[in-house]
Amino acid sequence: MKLTFELRPGIDQVGYVDYNVRDFHSYDTRLGATYNAYLVRDEKVALIDTVKAPFAEQLKRNVAALVALDSVDYLVCLHAEMDHSGALPEMVRACPNAVVVCNAKCREALAGFYDVSDWKFQIVNSNETLSLGKRSLTFVNVPMVHWPESTVCYMPEEKILFSNDAFGQHIATSNRFDDECDLPKLLEEAKSYYANIVAPYGRQTLKVLDVVGTLELELIAPAHGVIWRSHIKEILDEYPKWASGQYAPKVLVIYDTMWQSTELMAEEIYAGAVEFGQTLAKENPNEPRLDVHLMHARKTTLTRMAAEALDAAAIAFGSATLNANLMPRMAAVLAYFQGLKFREKTALAFGSFGWGVGGPEAIHKTLETLKYPVLDLSPLKAKQRPDATTLDACRNAGAALAKAAWERYLGDK
Ligand SMILES: Cc1cc2nc3c(=O)[nH]c(=O)nc-3n(C[C@H](O)[C@H](O)[C@H](O)COP(=O)(O)O)c2cc1C
Ligand SMILES: [Fe+2]
Ligand SMILES: [Fe+2]
Repeated sequence: MKLTFELRPGIDQVGYVDYNVRDFHSYDTRLGATYNAYLVRDEKVALIDTVKAPFAEQLKRNVAALVALDSVDYLVCLHAEMDHSGALPEMVRACPNAVVVCNAKCREALAGFYDVSDWKFQIVNSNETLSLGKRSLTFVNVPMVHWPESTVCYMPEEKILFSNDAFGQHIATSNRFDDECDLPKLLEEAKSYYANIVAPYGRQTLKVLDVVGTLELELIAPAHGVIWRSHIKEILDEYPKWASGQYAPKVLVIYDTMWQSTELMAEEIYAGAVEFGQTLAKENPNEPRLDVHLMHARKTTLTRMAAEALDAAAIAFGSATLNANLMPRMAAVLAYFQGLKFREKTALAFGSFGWGVGGPEAIHKTLETLKYPVLDLSPLKAKQRPDATTLDACRNAGAALAKAAWERYLGDK
C-alpha cells in the first residue's frame, strides 16, 4: 500500500497507520497506533522521522510516490527510539544523497542501535536552523521528554511544530486532523499517552510548554496520532494540567483477589466513596461529580490504570496475601506507578489474609516508599472473609478517601 496525506502544499505525512498493534512496548494500544513521518519538498527535500522497521517498505513507497529517493537531502531524526528510527537504516540505504540531521546525543543513541559507520551526519544544536529553501526548520532540544536526545522542530514559515512524541496519541485512524475526529476521544488518548509515556518527566515537559507557548502555531504535527489544527488551544490547555499532576475529584480502588474477600473490601471502599460523592454533589451542584473507579487489576490493563491514576487524587490499593506477599499483578501496578512518578495521592492499603502478614503490609510499605500520605487505618486487613466491622471500616475508608480527594481537588482549583 502507498498512502500519503497532504498537510500543506509540499508537506505530506508519509508514515504508517498501524491498525493491528495491540502491545506497544507494553502500552495497550487498543485503538492501534500511527508512526508519522513528514516529507517536506522545498529547494531541499527533508524527511522528518521515519517509522517502525517492519513498515520501512511502506515509508519508502510513500516517499518515492512524491519524490525521487536520490533527491532526498535530509533525513531528520528527532528521537532515536525505534518507533521513529527503525526504518532509518533502510532510508539511509535508499537515499544515497541524504544526510542524517540530528543532535549529538541522538547520533550517539542511533549508533547504539544501528551500524552508522557509513552514515553521513549533520549535527544540529538547540536553536539552530536548517534552511530548506523557502522554509526552514529550527531545532529545539527537549531533553527527557522523553529520552535524552528528544528534539522538536519548528517551521516558522508555515507555523508548524513537528513535536515528535509530545502531543501524540496512540490511535489508528484514516482521518489525519483533530477536527476530523471526536475531540473528547482524542484528548482521552492524548492523556493516556501522556500518563503512560511522558509522566515521569512533568518538570521537563513544563519547561518545553513554556517554549511552545511563545510560538505562533497553526499545526502541531506529532509523531503519533492525528495532527492538531483546530484544537491546539485545547491540547495546550490540557498538557500543563497533566504535567503538573493537577488533581481531579477522582478516587480509584485497585485490587487483586483470589477468593473474593479482598474484592468484598474493595466494593465496600468503592461504595463508601460513591456515597460520599453523592452527598458532595447535593452540596456542590455546580462542581463536577466525584468520579470513583473500581478496578480489578487483572481485568484492567496497566495502561488504563495509569491513565486514570494520572489525575486521581486518592487511591486504595488492595491485595490478598499470597505466599506471605502481595499478588503479582498488584506488585506490577505499584512498580509501574512508581516509575511513572505520579504526584502523590492520598492512599490506603487493604486486603485479606489467611494466617500471616503479606499483601496489605507489602502495599502499605510501598506506599510509604512512594511518600503517599496514607489513611490512619492503613493497612486495613481482614482475616479471610471480612466481617461486618471490617466492612464498616472499609466503607468509612472509602468516604475518607473521597473527602481527601475532594479537598485535594479544591486545593488545586
Ligand atoms: C496460593 C495461596 C497462597 C497463600 N499464601 C498465604 C500466605 O502466605 N499467608 C497468608 O496469610 N495467607 C495466604 N493465603 C491465604 C489467603 O491470603 C486468604 O485465603 C485470603 O483470605 C485470600 O483473600 P482473597 O479472598 O481476597 O483472595 C494463600 C492462599 C492461596 C490460595
Ligand atoms: Fe519515544
Ligand atoms: Fe514514539
